[in-house]
Amino acid sequence: MLLDSSDTVVPADESVIAGLDHWRSLEARQQPTWPDAEAAREASAELASMPPLVFAGEVDELREKLAAAAEGRAFLLQGGDCAETFAEATADKIRNRVKTVLQMAVVLTYGASVPVIKMGRMAGQFAKPRSSDTETRGGMTLPAYRGDMVNGYEFTEESRTADPRRLVRGYHTAASTLNLMRAFTQGGFADLRQVHSWNRGFSANPANQRYEGLAREIDRAIKFMEAAGADFDELKRVDFYASHEALLMDYERPMTRIDSRTGTPYDTSGHFVWIGERTRQIEGAHVDFLSRVRNPLGVKLGPATTPDDMFRLIDKLDPDREPGRLTFITRMGAGKIRDALPPLLEAIRKHGATPLWVTDPMHGNGLTTPTGYKTRRFDDVVDEVKGFFEAHRDAGTIPGGIHVELTGDDVTECLGGSEHIEEATLATHYESLCDPRLNHMQSLELAFLVAEELGAR
Ligand code: PEP
Ligand code: CO
Repeated sequence: MLLDSSDTVVPADESVIAGLDHWRSLEARQQPTWPDAEAAREASAELASMPPLVFAGEVDELREKLAAAAEGRAFLLQGGDCAETFAEATADKIRNRVKTVLQMAVVLTYGASVPVIKMGRMAGQFAKPRSSDTETRGGMTLPAYRGDMVNGYEFTEESRTADPRRLVRGYHTAASTLNLMRAFTQGGFADLRQVHSWNRGFSANPANQRYEGLAREIDRAIKFMEAAGADFDELKRVDFYASHEALLMDYERPMTRIDSRTGTPYDTSGHFVWIGERTRQIEGAHVDFLSRVRNPLGVKLGPATTPDDMFRLIDKLDPDREPGRLTFITRMGAGKIRDALPPLLEAIRKHGATPLWVTDPMHGNGLTTPTGYKTRRFDDVVDEVKGFFEAHRDAGTIPGGIHVELTGDDVTECLGGSEHIEEATLATHYESLCDPRLNHMQSLELAFLVAEELGAR
């Protein structure tokens, strides 16, 4: 996609470029106020001169895979931090997260016998929408933390002031994260013959033992195929895609480039980007801007979504009804999904559109403990996943993926699971700066459960 002397270069139409900036005349919610406008312009210009993080060819390939998932011929597994941080973009943390997604994918593939599309909420998940612009602690009010690409988490005036240099640092951190993701998944680490070694260092636990059992079965199957002379190149490398919420216009716009083959724009900040529940207004800047890029897009749908909202989003973001273009990520809450999802599925079945349906069983299930910890109950997460599969079974539509906040580490942020994390234990390893994540073991447990549901799909 980058210019190559042998390529035919298709220049962008002037109207395409003008279209990419149309959002500037619309309301863009959840944007930081940069105190220094000149510094923000400089950061944007610098980003615009940087190489793309992903390539158009990869993005197109992903769109085709998502189309298969929408038809039930594949399944999307999307997972990672609520908010990545610069400090935690270390080799160990990235490896553990990739490893957890790979392990979940093994469980799902084995259980469902369909290809699993692996995607990280990684290499760009540095900006967060917030319910309030400010935060007050002990009588002091400061701007809310909006993610490392905007300001610092530390509760001081200096740290909480939005700094556009962070956009550029975000780009570089995304680049090194993506580099490591690619190295791990293309360089032998993801070889299926390593299924056992991915489990090293984790305590004996029912989910882990179950995983070990499955790894043994896979080993046997691989040995059998090896003995029969099968070629294993396909098992050695894994495609692992990068995704994040496209929230900050001052990052997404300069990262958007015109593909030299086709003259069309791609947001090269990630393979897949999604629009959050708080920025999906049909007349808003985010929907308009993203309607103009070729990437496969996600939109979060909360429990108040009406069929009309949904159809307007389809018409704007996927007017050609292109397979794989549009993914609806529902985040209804365990108590609401059985009421809120069926009317949408019923309406869409009549209408004939076929977006990919993915469940996010995290964002509708938040609660705060009396001691002030933001948490989620593992049982609620599981219940929402079950409600998602039930609703699709009843409607005759296809449950095509799962979107989770997880970490590869042994944190104590969500309640329950087979390690029985309780309120009193939350404080021991609570590391998230934003929403609580499933830990390694809870993630594996969830994968086994989803595999069962998929087997019955
Ligand atoms: C998120 O995915 O971290 C998020 C903020 O989700 P939502 O837009 O669904 O609230
Ligand atoms: Co979150």
